[in-house]
Amino acid sequence: MTSTSLPDSLIATLPGSSYKDPGIFAQEQEHIFETMWFCAVRSSELTKPGAFRTVEVGRESILITRARDNSVRAFFNVCRHRGAKLRTEESGEVKRAFQCPYHAWTYDLDGRLVAAPNLTKMPDVGRTEFGLVSVATREWLGYVWVCLAENPPSFEDDVVGEVVGRLGDAESIEHYDIGGLAVGKRIVYDVKANWKLIIENFMECYHCATIHPELTEVLPEFADGYAAQYYVGHGAEFGAEVQGFTVDGSEGLDRIPGVSDDQDRRYYAITVKPQVFINLVPDHVIFHRMYPVAVDRTIVECDWLYLPNVVESGKDVSRSVELFDRVNRQDFDACERTQPGMSSRMYAKGGVLVPSEHHIGAFHDWVNRRLGAPRP
Ligand code: FES
Ligand SMILES: [Fe+2]
Repeated sequence: MTSTSLPDSLIATLPGSSYKDPGIFAQEQEHIFETMWFCAVRSSELTKPGAFRTVEVGRESILITRARDNSVRAFFNVCRHRGAKLRTEESGEVKRAFQCPYHAWTYDLDGRLVAAPNLTKMPDVGRTEFGLVSVATREWLGYVWVCLAENPPSFEDDVVGEVVGRLGDAESIEHYDIGGLAVGKRIVYDVKANWKLIIENFMECYHCATIHPELTEVLPEFADGYAAQYYVGHGAEFGAEVQGFTVDGSEGLDRIPGVSDDQDRRYYAITVKPQVFINLVPDHVIFHRMYPVAVDRTIVECDWLYLPNVVESGKDVSRSVELFDRVNRQDFDACERTQPGMSSRMYAKGGVLVPSEHHIGAFHDWVNRRLGAPRP
């Protein structure tokens, strides 16, 4: 079936190849993940100067650390000498410098080359010129965002703009003081599915009534299939009997003080392309970051963020965590169930989107534009 023969209610998805072809994935790595702002780590993970994390951004390994002045720095995790990976661990701490394990070239926390065997005999080797190559960083919402592009796009347009496009203004998200919240729980999911299937799933709620019994119990309007992301500024209202955003609708934790009365008892969902989902409820924020590692595999790091005193006091957040952990597992199961179909010859031309999913078509157009292949 071609798109021209579709009834008005349906629009076409991307073809199956878009979700299973490693060549297309490589183009996405280059033109999306290695070009756009990428939300890499929670700032609080970099507890002090020298604390570091390594993350895969597109096809590159990036080393993120804190310099002596406490500012965040990010570098390609590649030695300037003969290219060895400086650090292979996911996280750790150095005292004052990164020393390459191969021939001991040593870089300070600003990336400058400060020592190497026989370096004094090579006075013409510039300490900055042969220092680590840095990448752009920004801190927002308590996360470190990096951009590998030589000329990074506007953070305000690309990242903040996505939030404004969803919530209607820039202030609404500030009410949640996401940067000031503490990580109450982190769960890392290894999802055997293409990253776009995970975004598409997050953008629609046509599946909510089928796979999310607990969530539709808390947010009854989700049973109609219209996601919170369908309307600008709309938050899905808690059911009348529901006390909090928990697995059984029981009471939640302390409400974030800045949350306004019209935001209370509502759930807002935001997609910040290409790899972040932000979920806002009155007493916590659920923050997803995707790390696409292969055409058919995506690591998802999900943080549950609460007021610092909630986390420090050891209050029981388990019922609150369990709701979205179940939602995540239900969603990722659905994505994994879908991934094999992408390789079926039956799906070569793709599937269809119903009206409550038509906004996903705009996401597909966006992907095509990024890859320089606008939809005919
Ligand atoms: S490759 Fe790093 S010091 Fe030689
Ligand atoms: Fe879902």
